[in-house]
Amino acid sequence: MEVLKAANRRQAEGHDVLHMEVGEPGGGPPPRAVAAAAEALKNGTRIGYTEANGVPSLRARVARHYRDAYGVTVDAARVVITTGSSAGFLLGFLAAFGDGARIGVSEPGYPAYRNVIESLGMTAVGIPTDAAARFQMTPAMLDAALPLDGLVVASPANPTGTMLSASALAETARWCAAHRVRLISDEIYHGITFGTPAETALASSPEALVVNGFSKYYAMTGWRIGWMVVPTDLVGAAERLSQNLYISPPTLSQIAAEAAFDDTAFLDAKVAGYARTRAHLLEVLPRAGFDRLAPADGAFYLFADVSALTGDSAAFCERMLRETGVATTPGIDFDPVRGNRFLRFSIAGPAEDMKKAADRLIDWRKRL
Ligand SMILES: Cc1ncc(COP(=O)(O)O)c(C=O)c1O
Repeated sequence: MEVLKAANRRQAEGHDVLHMEVGEPGGGPPPRAVAAAAEALKNGTRIGYTEANGVPSLRARVARHYRDAYGVTVDAARVVITTGSSAGFLLGFLAAFGDGARIGVSEPGYPAYRNVIESLGMTAVGIPTDAAARFQMTPAMLDAALPLDGLVVASPANPTGTMLSASALAETARWCAAHRVRLISDEIYHGITFGTPAETALASSPEALVVNGFSKYYAMTGWRIGWMVVPTDLVGAAERLSQNLYISPPTLSQIAAEAAFDDTAFLDAKVAGYARTRAHLLEVLPRAGFDRLAPADGAFYLFADVSALTGDSAAFCERMLRETGVATTPGIDFDPVRGNRFLRFSIAGPAEDMKKAADRLIDWRKRL
């Protein structure tokens, strides 16, 4: 966010900035979602509060999505619509855990897990992963983090884009069951994969708490709409929490989100665009010195080990922004311990900008 502020400041001063720092899809939301929202406004559909866990038709549509996409049966009563997946984490952690709970999070990992857990008076237990393990947690790493009450996994993950195979995810679920650890699976990047499609944790663990939403594959960040699938024993707690924290998720966004499920051709074309950009960058970034990239199985990130170029990636990103206009995110945001050795490229921006950015970095490297 600091890089984003610096990048925006430079842009406001008239400099040309190429954005590879924000994890946000470009190119607009699905047209059917926009049309459904416009239609609802035109028709005078009442945009009042809804049931706290979301409108029944959207909950049923999410349940159907599990059958269509994964072949997994989910009871719509277990689906909780949330204000972005961010609210899903808040509700999920509060519903599932008490004060002082110890919840394992991958390092590197999405920083909000840690920040939300700590803000709730729980303890985020950092579990260091590495390139050899594709930056995903292995059972041996999990053993070393015990005792734990909960564990957050993400596949594809932010910032690395790496995935757990279906069998590795099932193994993680078995490990959680054996150690009575509640599994929380962040599946927000499902749909954006470049090889094998992602598996849901629900395929191996009906007890898992799954968090997902419409911000990434569905490209609806500002609509602030997401969902959770929770075990039956947590449905009531999730409902009471959403009633008290924000009454109900945004109604217009719920209408739009339901229609978004039917716009897969539009959304898959976006993913094809990310795939083309990814292939190009994987080919050319090594020429700029970024030759140690995590396997980018999914999401829209390239996570680079820059320890051969710098010992301080924050200063490196700042200099890169100043000298090339390319904004990236230093690894310290994702890993408080070893983050200085890494940076993250977000490749979700317009293809032309991404190509231009790579050209500038190659040129910069020659001049260094
Ligand atoms: C891994 C991961 N989970 C969750 C989120 C939150 O997304 P939202 O609240 O927009 O659904 C993000 C956003 O960048 C993310 O990268």
